[in-house]
Amino acid sequence: MQAVMKADRQRVLVAMGSHLTVAEKTSRRDLVTNVDHSNEDYLVERIRELDPQAKVLAEEGRGDHVTSMRGHVWIVDPIDGTMNFVHQRNHFAIMVGYYVDGAPTLGYIYDVVADRLFAGGPVVGVTLNGQPLAAPADLTLSEGLFGASGPLLIANKFQMQRVIAASLGARILGSAGVQIAQVLAGELVGYLSYLRPWDFAAGRVLAETLGLVVTQVDGTPVNMLSSGAVLVATKRAHRAVLALAK
Ligand code: IPD
Ligand code: CA
Ligand code: CA
Ligand code: CA
Repeated sequence: MQAVMKADRQRVLVAMGSHLTVAEKTSRRDLVTNVDHSNEDYLVERIRELDPQAKVLAEEGRGDHVTSMRGHVWIVDPIDGTMNFVHQRNHFAIMVGYYVDGAPTLGYIYDVVADRLFAGGPVVGVTLNGQPLAAPADLTLSEGLFGASGPLLIANKFQMQRVIAASLGARILGSAGVQIAQVLAGELVGYLSYLRPWDFAAGRVLAETLGLVVTQVDGTPVNMLSSGAVLVATKRAHRAVLALAK
């Protein structure tokens, strides 16, 4: 799958340089492009070749109607950060997560423009561009930057302003994948956003493999078939955020 991701990066960069067809899904802030669609086609086809029996849950609807995590389940976000893709041509990711009977098994987050591919899982460990990635230091909230979501911060949902005030500062990037990758790399101590399964499926595998904690903001387990306010953080930052985000 790493080779598929590498080849996919080239395809997406070429497509990004051509004319983009942009449409609104549910609002002017919820976009989809021809590249989201073509890239989802590409990834779902590759997964079907690799693992014909598997179910595929994919954001733009090319996959299956998945109602259970039993068996092999691949979860695909063809372009995470479509708004950035359209308006910045930067700060977006390709993401694929793989679960076996509900167990996080493999994850891939590719920050396309930065050319950072985070890959792996509990059996093989995590690599960054093929090099083993060490677990980030277990810093607490007051010792690091915190990855926020704009809407949660504006609405002060889950006491986001209090959480940010306790950290070294907020960073808002508009791609769950790129921000979770920053937590993996130790560049943020945590990230909290309202997310759908494909936004955090890959990140959960990679984060848990590195000893980071992934739960809903109330501390309950995440569900890979539903949306929720998802917190990805170091163990110590996770405890600190749960205590504040009441
Ligand atoms: C979105 C991005 C964004 C997050 C949204 C997601 P998309 O994904 O990850 O950062 O705040 O909740 O929907 O739609 O661009 O794949
Ligand atoms: Ca979307
Ligand atoms: Ca996404
Ligand atoms: Ca997407």
